Amino acid sequence: MSTAAGPTGRQALALLRSLRADPLTGFVSLTNHYGDFVRVPLPRGGKLLLISRPELAAHVLVSNQANYRKARTYKPMTEVLGNGLLTNEGEDWARQRRIVQPMFARRHIDSFAPAMVAAAHTTLESWAARPDGALLDVAEEMSALALDVAGRALFSADLTGEAGAMGPALATVLDAFTKVVRSPLFLVAPNYHRWPTPNRLRARAAEAQLHGVVDGLISRRRAEQRLPGDAGARDLLDMLLAARDETTGEPMSEQQVRDELMTFLLAGHETTANALAWTFMLLSRNPEARDRLEAEVDEVLAGREATAADADKLTWTSAVISESMRLYPPAWIIEREAIAADELDGEPVPADSVVAPAPYLLHRNPDQWPNPEGFDPTRFLPGEGSARHRFAYLPFGGGRRQCIGGGFAMLESVLLLATITQRYRLDLVPGFREEPVPTITLRPRRGIPMRLHRRAAALD
Ligand code: HEM
Repeated sequence: MSTAAGPTGRQALALLRSLRADPLTGFVSLTNHYGDFVRVPLPRGGKLLLISRPELAAHVLVSNQANYRKARTYKPMTEVLGNGLLTNEGEDWARQRRIVQPMFARRHIDSFAPAMVAAAHTTLESWAARPDGALLDVAEEMSALALDVAGRALFSADLTGEAGAMGPALATVLDAFTKVVRSPLFLVAPNYHRWPTPNRLRARAAEAQLHGVVDGLISRRRAEQRLPGDAGARDLLDMLLAARDETTGEPMSEQQVRDELMTFLLAGHETTANALAWTFMLLSRNPEARDRLEAEVDEVLAGREATAADADKLTWTSAVISESMRLYPPAWIIEREAIAADELDGEPVPADSVVAPAPYLLHRNPDQWPNPEGFDPTRFLPGEGSARHRFAYLPFGGGRRQCIGGGFAMLESVLLLATITQRYRLDLVPGFREEPVPTITLRPRRGIPMRLHRRAAALD
């Protein structure tokens, strides 16, 4: 017998409307009401299965992953990401993943540490001009900082300067995408995301702007005519240009290089920025965890610049980031569609059903997480958490489509948090109430206003 439960008939129709308006609140209350496997009937006999039980997530993402493709909600992203890894499918995806995977090997990721720390220092310098107690929006600050890191790691370029419109253009594209997938028309019109609505036209202009900047960076690099593989790649762009298909020996097409760069930019920027912003909010609310963070950073770094080698020693810092991504996973839901009929714990899964393991819900499953709403980084200290199911925690997804940039994002988050903590403590303005908005990433609705305090222990 199936353990799935959920609303039926009219109830479900009303629910769909409210889910479109606010899927996060809707999914949380469905899970609270019906449990960790929720069935929601969709129009025309379709079905949505919402998953917060790790075993079921593992079935969809690993054991039977060949039967699940990315859901239709990813489709509008192809407008800007083309055949990049996030949106690609099938053989083409598998080949690209094989080619790109080695670029995210540990030694390559570590080589970006100096760029990450340098970007953090640029932010610290801009803060140094502000008086003690200055008010800032940490979400905005982290967004600019993560974009700076992306620019350096992808292209050795300053995206905050010359191409300063990148941030707003990326935000426009992400907003437009959310609007499309929330529209009732998206459910019934397969190509709704292409209709020339004002939303689409705005997005198209922003996409053209992003493509223009990225194409310019690629062609300038090609013009340098460095030989593939010559004297060490400077950044991911060099690596993409040097990459060869192992069987055919072919380089990537111009278009594919651009699609992958756009994908790294889009998939890696807002996610990491939000992870850091939520972390500062949580630290301000949990002074003991913050004291311990400051003590660790002061001890491990002893006033010098952080390096990749320090990341392994910054165990509390890393646990803080992991615990923050448990409570506020930037990728809050993962959506798939069944290719052929399947069965999940006795529940029939007809072809084309939407199956959604949701990190936001999995990370709060009380069977896996005692005191699920409590912020407790000790859960992620080395040696802890062996009793948990491996799929109880999925900030970077799971199975073959899992995030290729997870190691990069963890190193970046740890180094940025440690570098900022060396100098500053951020305090939430009193009375702030967070409102996580489930767009493509989970982000704070009106930013996170915090006051900046220079730490007494900070060394100049
Ligand atoms: C905290 C930061 C990040 C989070 C939470 C995150 C989360 C995720 C998740 C959950 C997926 C899987 C989506 C799915 O299965 O449908 C994913 C895929 C992906 N991510 Fe990340 N990501 C982060 C940072 C990055 C960075 C820094 C990069 C690149 C530099 C990146 C590149 C990608 C790519 C290319 C994919 C598609 C992989 C594939 O399907 O082969 N991500 N990410």
